[in-house]
Amino acid sequence: TYVVTDNCIKCKYTDCVEVCPVDCFYEGENMLVIHPDECIDCGVCEPECPADAILPDTEPGLEKWVELNAEYAEKWPNLTVKKDQLPEAAEFDGVKEKLEKYFS
Ligand code: SF4
Ligand code: F3S
Repeated sequence: TYVVTDNCIKCKYTDCVEVCPVDCFYEGENMLVIHPDECIDCGVCEPECPADAILPDTEPGLEKWVELNAEYAEKWPNLTVKKDQLPEAAEFDGVKEKLEKYFS
C-alpha cells in the first residue's frame, strides 16, 4: 500500500484524489490519508503530489505513517474529487515537524 506522509499536512493539494482508481483517500482538516485495505498499490498517485508526500510503505522508517493512515482512514470522510489546496499550501511546503505542530 501507499501512505500519505508529513508534507501533506497544511498543503492538502488533493491532486492525488483525482487519479486514484479506487477512491481510497480520506480527508482530515489539514491532511489526507490512504485506506490501506482499499489501496491497490497502483502507484499512480505518488508522482502527482506536488508536495511529494506519498510514498510506498515499503520504504524504511514509515511505521508511524502506516499506523496513522490506517487509523484516520477509518475516522475521516472519503474524498473523491479534487478541491482547492489549502491557502497556506505553498508557504508550508517543506516545513519540518508538521505532524507534531499542525496535524489535524
Ligand atoms: Fe489510489 Fe493507487 Fe495511490 Fe493506492 S497507489 S492510493 S490505489 S492511486
Ligand atoms: Fe496531500 Fe499531496 Fe494529496 S499534498 S492531498 S498527498 S496531492
